[in-house]
Amino acid sequence: MKTKGTVYSIVGARPQFIKLAPLARVLSKKLRHVIVHTGQHYDHNMSGVFFRQLGIPKANVNLNIGGVTHGAMTGRMLEELEALFLQRRPDAVVVYGDTNSTLAGALAASKLSIPVAHVESGLRSFVPDMPEEINRRVTDQLAQLLFCPTETAIRNLRREGIKEGVVRSGDLMYELLHDSGNVIRGNTRFLKAQGLEQDQFGLLTFHRACNTDSRENLIRLCEILDDAKLPILFPLHPRTRKSLQKNRLLSRLKKNKQLMICDPLGYRDLLTAACFARFVMTDSGGLQKEALFLGTPVLTLRNETEWVELLKKGNRLVSLDKAKVLAAWKRPGKVSVIDHRIGRKRPSQIIASSLVTYLKGV
Ligand code: UD1
Repeated sequence: MKTKGTVYSIVGARPQFIKLAPLARVLSKKLRHVIVHTGQHYDHNMSGVFFRQLGIPKANVNLNIGGVTHGAMTGRMLEELEALFLQRRPDAVVVYGDTNSTLAGALAASKLSIPVAHVESGLRSFVPDMPEEINRRVTDQLAQLLFCPTETAIRNLRREGIKEGVVRSGDLMYELLHDSGNVIRGNTRFLKAQGLEQDQFGLLTFHRACNTDSRENLIRLCEILDDAKLPILFPLHPRTRKSLQKNRLLSRLKKNKQLMICDPLGYRDLLTAACFARFVMTDSGGLQKEALFLGTPVLTLRNETEWVELLKKGNRLVSLDKAKVLAAWKRPGKVSVIDHRIGRKRPSQIIASSLVTYLKGV
């Protein structure tokens, strides 16, 4: 039976659609669930393809705010979400991860005293000026329900004095990957179409602001790739494409015979590539975990990671240090994966039940 109450999910970027997919299925059975798409990611291959492939219901509300600077984006989202919440008065608002859409959703709701639930709460990179770190810290201060994927996340919150409303939920990204395992492994058509063979290629993704907004870091990436000894599939995020173009480096990369540059891939194709690659190189938070869940070693192109449990389990922090990357290419290492599930309950069930219980109590 459905509980009385309306919950709004605020999403706008790729990693949020992935977390929303398993949760939306459960939430819509237990409560009235409304999906708001802020429009932060708007290209079909950054947004629509995820809704279609992952069976997410069409968003009930589309704000179409994207392609502007951080401040303008967050400000416009805040204004529009406030107007929406004033008009419709949700009983709770669920925000996901660490994007500008997360921050705007949490701020708009809490200023109207609407309870906020934060999915993937408690993660920290301890880099204070990283946009995602700012978004997560503020959101965790505002949330009444804090769904943590790991024990480390709970410890991080405790250190910041946040104890109430903290729930160890497990990892929705793990849940989706677990459910999609057969589809991902069976998607060999994709490999054939790309001319790729198992273990004979690498996968690269690169989109963090600290990397793409620095000409120096873009050049470092080009120099590393100059030494690639096997084909590397590189689905290009729009931010990265723009920065490479602006810095006149895209044509240089296109001359690299080992590099296979393509548009951003949908969930299934990206994870098939991650599954069959010899290694994954990335600065993404989500793909670091997903590759390891699939048994593929990961080279993280950052100086730090929020997922510290994955270090020494097959995830190596190599930053953009060419010597480290070349050494890791030679010996990508073995993967021994930690289990992001907890007990028998699915993360989506834990989150939905906690929301129902919370709403009964308010
Ligand atoms: C955002 C998140 C990051 C997440 C990532 C996933 C923040 C601060 N960062 O970064 O945590 O890991 O999404 O991809 O919210 N663009 C397009 N088409 C699109 C989407 C974006 O052209 O469909 C362009 C935008 O106009 C912008 C650039 O790409 O110029 C970057 O997009 P933006 O939403 O600012 O941040 P992401 O780098 O995607």
